[in-house]
Amino acid sequence: MNGPAVNGSAGRTTVSGAGAGPEAAAGSCPADGGAASGSGGCPISLDPLSIDPLVGRLAEETEALRTAGPLARIDLMGAEAWTVTTHAEARRLLTDSRLVKDITTWNLWRSGEVDESWPLIGMVDAGRSMFTVDGAEHRRLRTKTAQALTPRRLAAIRPAVERITGELLDAMEAHAAEAPGEPVDLKAAFAQPLPMSVVCSLMGVEPELEPRLHRLYEAFFSMLTPQDERLAVIQELDELYAEMVEEKSASPGDDLTSALILADEGGEPLTAEEVRGNLEAMVAAGHETTVTLILCAVRALLTHPDQLRLVLDGQVGWEAVIEETLRWESPSTHLLMRFATSDVEVAGRVVREGEAVVMSYRAIGRDRAQHGEDADCFDVRRSAPIRHLAFGHGPHICPGAGLSRLEASVALPALFERFPSLSLAVPVAEIRNRPVLTQNELESLPVRLR
Ligand code: HEM
Repeated sequence: MNGPAVNGSAGRTTVSGAGAGPEAAAGSCPADGGAASGSGGCPISLDPLSIDPLVGRLAEETEALRTAGPLARIDLMGAEAWTVTTHAEARRLLTDSRLVKDITTWNLWRSGEVDESWPLIGMVDAGRSMFTVDGAEHRRLRTKTAQALTPRRLAAIRPAVERITGELLDAMEAHAAEAPGEPVDLKAAFAQPLPMSVVCSLMGVEPELEPRLHRLYEAFFSMLTPQDERLAVIQELDELYAEMVEEKSASPGDDLTSALILADEGGEPLTAEEVRGNLEAMVAAGHETTVTLILCAVRALLTHPDQLRLVLDGQVGWEAVIEETLRWESPSTHLLMRFATSDVEVAGRVVREGEAVVMSYRAIGRDRAQHGEDADCFDVRRSAPIRHLAFGHGPHICPGAGLSRLEASVALPALFERFPSLSLAVPVAEIRNRPVLTQNELESLPVRLR
């Protein structure tokens, strides 16, 4: 591609500061962000491959974006875009029909400056699904999925979530008995398999495929994966899901993928490509985000023992923990991407027709105008309800919000009940993020169970 240099640093704002850890340590609030800049004319680089990457040092990144204002200019691994950093502007723009998901409206795509060699292309040019279309077509592609995730339908899914949670906890307990005192990675043992198993069972994906999917998505999201390998991963995922849709078309089961195949949306059934796109969107969006929610909630509680005590004593509900974690550690850090079909004014600046707009959900969750001067503090005692935008807003609002809340509301109390002495096995500053641009994804969460 011919866009701005991917690895060069000229003309970009980067943020200096030592250490990779987020501000999860007890007592690190509020002066936790380190040095920040970004209010100048240079775009803020979100390139994890540059010399001074922000990704993985989320506190500095958030501070830089907030300092740059409600609409900040960013450099997304060689492609310039705007990002929205405040709650009020995000809420307004997420319902603005002049911003659309169709990549063919993007000026850098049309001019060929962005093409398949751009590392983030898989998240923007993601095939035809509810994630990539708008308006009436979007409603057509989304309705059936949304209907499968209503509160009534979720009540029917709950026993499966409880069963999977119980099995994972049993396995961890058996491991603890065999190797007492040995640290366990809570991500690998618990937080990662749970959402993947739940979304696979919902969509009718065979459990045997889960390890392969984990591997493929790790490579897909990591910005360290060479682009040719990522394109091969995308192709493998596309083929895998296309095969599933073909098999289920021949022999439908009792799952959401089969329901999408059989759906008759006003006499216009979904095409095989649309079913595949929705299946991919559900599995891709439906696991890692919830992994992050569970892990970040555990980390936050273990580093704020006074608040954990309030929860375990029943003075504060698990719902408050979940909502505060969603606000404070938004699982989606930056959600790509919408494109302006005409000029759009935002806080005194103008997004020109054809330009790209990202939602920086982590900065939005830390917006002081919305959440108060202590927005950087984790506090489960905030007055309810906590009005965050971690699940988006408007027509594309996350259809899996209820499911992920259900998973977290089963997983968290069950974990702390089974292992009341749960503790971090490493200093919190050593817990690192993976080199992922779009998500607040932890590398691992080493804990001691007893
Ligand atoms: C903590 C967990 C989760 C978070 C924080 C989250 C966050 C989000 C956000 C911010 C969006 C809005 C995207 C946009 O504005 O374009 C979204 C959309 C979406 N999410 Fe989630 N999500 C979570 C869990 C899930 C789960 C469990 C599923 C599926 C089972 C799921 C499926 C989807 C899908 C399919 C979309 C696209 C909807 C559309 O474009 O109409 N998500 N999610």
